Amino acid sequence: MKLFLDTANLDEIREIRRWGVLGGLTSNPTLIAKEKPSDIETYMKELCAEVDGPVSLETTAERADEIFEQGLKLAQVAPNAVVKVAMTPDGLDAGKRLVEQGIPVNVTLTFSPAQAILAAEIGATYVSPFLGRLDDVGADGMFVLREICQIYEAQGYETLVLAASLRNPMHVVEAAKAGADVATMPFEVFTKLVKHPLTDAGLEKFLADWKKLEAQVKEGV
Ligand code: G3P
Repeated sequence: MKLFLDTANLDEIREIRRWGVLGGLTSNPTLIAKEKPSDIETYMKELCAEVDGPVSLETTAERADEIFEQGLKLAQVAPNAVVKVAMTPDGLDAGKRLVEQGIPVNVTLTFSPAQAILAAEIGATYVSPFLGRLDDVGADGMFVLREICQIYEAQGYETLVLAASLRNPMHVVEAAKAGADVATMPFEVFTKLVKHPLTDAGLEKFLADWKKLEAQVKEGV
């Protein structure tokens, strides 16, 4: 399972890239708006240049023709750009046309196995089920993800399952167990993945013992 960062913040991207685990990036209009870029296209180019992997850039038009036109432009932002379309009839219509142009498409705002079947049928590269947002309304996001993975496996669909809206490390672990191809998560979830109190305590003890040994060697004890 590849790990993607769900952000539009350049410092966060650079930090996770430094760890050697950044497989790609997902952005959305909310995340880009948070960064207040003065020039949106230049900013998107910057995002793509920071990532050695696919970068999802979302369309914001509502009608199929306009989504398609916007998608064509987004695909030109960088060679690693992936065009996000919403799971709506217009999004599917535009997404299918983008796929036919050889453009990688990510169908976002997917909340059910039925919707995920549609994403696969248009030949999308990714389908993005939003787990956390399902949990927020009292549904079981992980159950939906497992169903999607099971259906894709049974049908031999090539669309990759990109588990999104992940809120904690267990979401990531369970997504991996379910067979998701990608897990995208905010920076805070990445930091929670690496952190363990026993690692911190263990390292503190190792370093303290090592310093003690060095001091003893220096004093010739
Ligand atoms: O970018 C798509 C998705 O991951 C959004 O997550 O946390 O806003 O529900 P969230």
